[in-house]
Amino acid sequence: MAHQGITPRSSWSDVEAMLGADALEALERPLSDASSLPNACYTDEAWQKLEFERLFARNWFVAGFVQDIPDPGDALPVTTAGMPLLILRDHDGDVRVFHNVCRHRGAVLVDKPCSGLKLLTCPYHAWAYGLDGNLRTRPHFHGGGHHDVTGKDGDGPGLVPVRTEVWHHWIFINIDGKAPPLADYLAPALEKITGYDLTASRYAGTVHFDIATNWKFAMENYIEPYHVFAAHPRLHAFVPMAEREPSKIDRHVMWNRYLFKQAQAGRGEGLPHFPDLSDQTAHQGLWFILPVPFGFEVYPDHVASFHVTPIAPGRCHERIDIYLIGEAATSPDWAQQREAVLDMWHDLNSEDVGLIESLQKGRTSPAYDGGRLSPYWDEAPLHLSRMIIEGMR
Ligand code: FES
Ligand SMILES: [Fe+2]
Repeated sequence: MAHQGITPRSSWSDVEAMLGADALEALERPLSDASSLPNACYTDEAWQKLEFERLFARNWFVAGFVQDIPDPGDALPVTTAGMPLLILRDHDGDVRVFHNVCRHRGAVLVDKPCSGLKLLTCPYHAWAYGLDGNLRTRPHFHGGGHHDVTGKDGDGPGLVPVRTEVWHHWIFINIDGKAPPLADYLAPALEKITGYDLTASRYAGTVHFDIATNWKFAMENYIEPYHVFAAHPRLHAFVPMAEREPSKIDRHVMWNRYLFKQAQAGRGEGLPHFPDLSDQTAHQGLWFILPVPFGFEVYPDHVASFHVTPIAPGRCHERIDIYLIGEAATSPDWAQQREAVLDMWHDLNSEDVGLIESLQKGRTSPAYDGGRLSPYWDEAPLHLSRMIIEGMR
């Protein structure tokens, strides 16, 4: 079934009007004079709506995870970019995404995770759709006992499909249907991970965080290593500041890496590695961030994805999903080492939570104007802000 793009109603002039000419100009100055985005971009509902319509809906972003719908007939409702969507696995095993709204009166079709589904039946008047989105039956549609049966050919009003591409464990969607192919969007990252066979990675677990902060603070924090010495003692002991570099920029992707000498629990110790790593990739952490919130890290023994869902201007949900190599992901023999990786990520990210919540509080101060930045460390977070605005243009 072809996707049907949904085009936003807002325009670039709406964005410009909220942002203001001064803020746009401050964003474009050389790093030593530039400021990050103004407070309204972190606190204002109207701004968030513009982000959903112009940034999220017109670019690729991760709406879900294949491990959350492992079997045919599994379906998961999600609210993302402010809209209800339904992610499911059909009976051919393919992942599909639909707008989770009935074509009759607009009830939300599926409101909790389901498995073993053969049909999607609306709770309101029981219109039933196939897992391909086609309308199948409308009970009593022509009066009591006079049902409408439309069959499989999709001639009735079916569910509205969303353009979807799956890359490894991650379900990417493009709401307006007009973004370039996903491979083009991911290319700056893909070119740097050719030494890792990601098909060897298997889902091992997730850590979740509800955070009272704007989604952009989670992303900015993720891509700047400047705070490591102050916030993350264990990570700093693993790789000290003197051996760290500022994050780099390749087109719309921000990325970084470090080399470590000695593996430790949760970071490369005692777990199987990706096959055929070089000496360098066996002692390297590498991470990427995309402007529509998704990041991932590759280590010799695991992949961690970093996903942020905006809930409100001052609230987001983060999940970090861990993928290990082969048997290590699920076998009881590896339970202890697996826990060590999940604990490491839980502990590391917990060290950031209070800090990024503090950034959100700081943005209620009229004295804060977007700040002054470190010319050494802050280019990538500034670039992220620029890419967000570029993505809304
Ligand atoms: S709203 Fe779904 S069947 Fe009426
Ligand atoms: Fe951090």
